[in-house]
Amino acid sequence: MRHVKLLQLFDHPITQKYVKRSGMAHAVACAYHAYRLAKKHGVDPDRATKAAFLHDIGHYTWYRDGQWDYDLYKENDIHAIKGAERAHKLLIRLGEHPRTAKEISLAILLHTDSYLPEGQLNLNPLQYVVALADEADEEPGGEHHYRTLSAERARKMLEALDKKVDESMQQMIIEQTI
Ligand SMILES: [Fe+2]
Repeated sequence: MRHVKLLQLFDHPITQKYVKRSGMAHAVACAYHAYRLAKKHGVDPDRATKAAFLHDIGHYTWYRDGQWDYDLYKENDIHAIKGAERAHKLLIRLGEHPRTAKEISLAILLHTDSYLPEGQLNLNPLQYVVALADEADEEPGGEHHYRTLSAERARKMLEALDKKVDESMQQMIIEQTI
């Protein structure tokens, strides 16, 4: 059972404020990639699409003198940590199951290792799918954060993806009972 849908997330002012900051087009594209990859890797598409949609919700604006300062960002960024917490709070507020909220939050925390000391992360399948979905939509120089998508089109795309996830979840239930 899905407690929270993508459209509910999209319509929330917190999402509108913070996901827009890093690009709604990127967030929606990643959710679609996550759906495809979740099917391929046998991961729950509900969690994967929500985690991918919200993965960059923790971004801060690193401006200096009105210009984006990439060095400042690189040095001080903790968007995955901030995003994990912000997404968790939002999901719980909307009535998400606490276990699902934790899984999604962890996938957001680990979607990038750019803020971590050198080392190798051992990702579980959900975390791996979300990281892959982000990579699949990345463009050189961070251009993916600047693509535009109208609110109307974003809403329609998420509504369609919600339907696909609903159908997949139904299918999974049927397969489990056969
Ligand atoms: Fe991203």
